[in-house]
Amino acid sequence: MKIRPVRGTHDLYGDEIKKFNLIKNIVSQNAELQSFNELQTPIFELSELFSKPLGDQSDVVLKEMYTFKDQGDDLLTLRPEYTTPMIRAAITKNLLNEIPLKVYGFGPMFRRERPQKGRYRQFNQINFEIFGSNDVMSDIEIIVIADDILKSILPGCEIILNLNTLGERDNLKKYKTILSKYFNDNKNKLSEESRNKIESNPLRILDSKNENDIEISNIAPPIQDYISNKSKIQFEELKQGLKFNNIDFVINHKLVRGLDYYSQTVFEFKTKNLGSQDTLLGGGRYDGLINILGGPDIPGVGWAAGIERIAMLMEFKKNTNSKVHIAINNKKFVTHLQTLFKYLKNNQISFYWNYKYNFKKSLSKANQDKVKYIIMMGEKEFESKSYTLRNLYSGNQNEIKLDEIKNYLNDQS
Ligand code: HAM
Repeated sequence: MKIRPVRGTHDLYGDEIKKFNLIKNIVSQNAELQSFNELQTPIFELSELFSKPLGDQSDVVLKEMYTFKDQGDDLLTLRPEYTTPMIRAAITKNLLNEIPLKVYGFGPMFRRERPQKGRYRQFNQINFEIFGSNDVMSDIEIIVIADDILKSILPGCEIILNLNTLGERDNLKKYKTILSKYFNDNKNKLSEESRNKIESNPLRILDSKNENDIEISNIAPPIQDYISNKSKIQFEELKQGLKFNNIDFVINHKLVRGLDYYSQTVFEFKTKNLGSQDTLLGGGRYDGLINILGGPDIPGVGWAAGIERIAMLMEFKKNTNSKVHIAINNKKFVTHLQTLFKYLKNNQISFYWNYKYNFKKSLSKANQDKVKYIIMMGEKEFESKSYTLRNLYSGNQNEIKLDEIKNYLNDQS
């Protein structure tokens, strides 16, 4: 019986894992440099952690959460995002006694979305958060670190930062009421999906892709009219900071983000190279969230990026030169073979052997894998306690002693 994988999930293997590991290494190096500490949380949490803060009416909560009752009748949810679990963990572990707290992490998230290229039901995120600062320098730092990471993983890739401010929480609340009224007056022209959001989440209508919705949104009261001077000054400072750091951006007043907890700064790094799932990284400020989750009334800012989407854009060159293949033509020489294995391991030289006692088959595999060197041993080498190293690119070969192999490979490469 063949069992299929669950729709929207995918197995990772070989080069894909190597890409993921490379991404994680670059992320960790950047995080260490700027004193972000890694924080890992469980994959499932009590459902209430997500339902209110993400917005009762957000798509994630309404349609996409994997929620189930366990045998003890606890209502649990596979985490759809990382910000709320990180806040929960920071509260549980009393990490917020000392603020600002800078944390980061990686891991799988779960959303029951309609699968397509770049959109999965289990996917991996990188997540960075700063808890406890409303200094605009923390907005700048969090965006600069995102930009540094994306530029070092995807050099030369066209990625553009979209930026907006939603204003302070009270003003945003006022704006949402005005927007609800406006959309209500134009209800008949809106798509059904948007009509359902008029009361609960009018901001989301602004980023609808439906043509009629776009027409109505284009003449909706603009958010800029409801933003306080203080927010406007902060936004200017943010823009100056990004310019100072040579980060290009576009202002996009329709950028509202999908989760409910944002106010003030919101941003997304987008690319044209991924089709419709074009957002690599998104985040913003969520000043009331920590308090809603039972923590102190302190602000926060952060972002998450989809590792799969980043990996899809990565150029990844396999370093085949570093690997040697091995060929042996008779089982009689296995002790000689195992002596070689020990030597290669002790000297950190990676190797591959296909369990074939046949030069031809091993040579053919080495050529197929495009490796540079093969180490061959037969009767002659066994008798003289030596090994033949053949350079498959040039065709040259030399018979050498075991302890000369490392230097030989270094000299030749
Ligand atoms: P988000 O925009 O929902 O934000 O997700 C962030 C990123 O995760 C997206 O830009 C995308 O790259 C990736 N992503 C989301 N859904 C999927 C999916 N179904 N398949 C593949 N990749 C996906 C958040 O999650 C917020 N917690 C970000 C944040 C952190 N805001 C403040 N701090």
